[in-house]
Amino acid sequence: MSGPLVIAVINQKGGAGKTTVAMHLGAGLARRASAVVVDLDPQGSATQWAAAGTQTFPATVKHLRVGAGAVDLRRDFRAYPFVVLDCPPAVDSRAAALALQSCDVAVIPVLPSPMDLWASLRLPQDIDEARRNNPRLRAYLLPNQIETRSALSAAMQEALAEFGLPVLRTAVRRRGIYKTAALEGVSAYQLGARGQSAVAEIEGLIEEILA
Ligand SMILES: Nc1ncnc2c1ncn2[C@@H]1O[C@H](COP(=O)(O)OP(=O)(O)O)[C@@H](O)[C@H]1O
Ligand SMILES: [Mg+2]
Repeated sequence: MSGPLVIAVINQKGGAGKTTVAMHLGAGLARRASAVVVDLDPQGSATQWAAAGTQTFPATVKHLRVGAGAVDLRRDFRAYPFVVLDCPPAVDSRAAALALQSCDVAVIPVLPSPMDLWASLRLPQDIDEARRNNPRLRAYLLPNQIETRSALSAAMQEALAEFGLPVLRTAVRRRGIYKTAALEGVSAYQLGARGQSAVAEIEGLIEEILA
């Protein structure tokens, strides 16, 4: 498939870390080639995040309201080699459906708690449906807000396996620096030594996605 690499960060569960992951993927990818984070959430958190800083955010951030008309994300953002879609917390929304139909890779951040996982259990169906029109779609679960390495316990691994989707090897740890980055309108990449560990895991994530 020619054109940009489109990565959708999606989960109908609010608070799973979509915006945090999308903004950091955007910031990390922007070091490789120009990148845009398309904010598909009517709440506009990614847009607010980028506007909060005194320096420009490393990736372009564009708010897009998906209305009734036809939208071709691949065409509209073809100027960017990397397009990251920050999805709203509703998988049955037009925006989320559009994202799944337009992306090469779906990254699904999930929190390591059973209740949060159950809230996401219909995602594999949505992915399957999207694959009918978008057969190249690759989808991965991304454990987020992991406390320690051991937090991905046997029970959690088992719960993740229920999704029948591959789990990224790189997990995102719970780190205060992610909140700091949002408050300061930057990414961990701009926070020097304080952001180093977060940068390392985001780089691991990007390498896995690009592999
Ligand atoms: N890995 C993490 N470590 C610490 N805080 C996190 C992490 N991921 C997300 N958060 C925080 O959790 C909250 C929800 O994250 P957010 O990215 O807005 O989720 P979503 O976009 O899925 O609703 C935010 O306050 C964010 O700062
Ligand atoms: Mg969000």
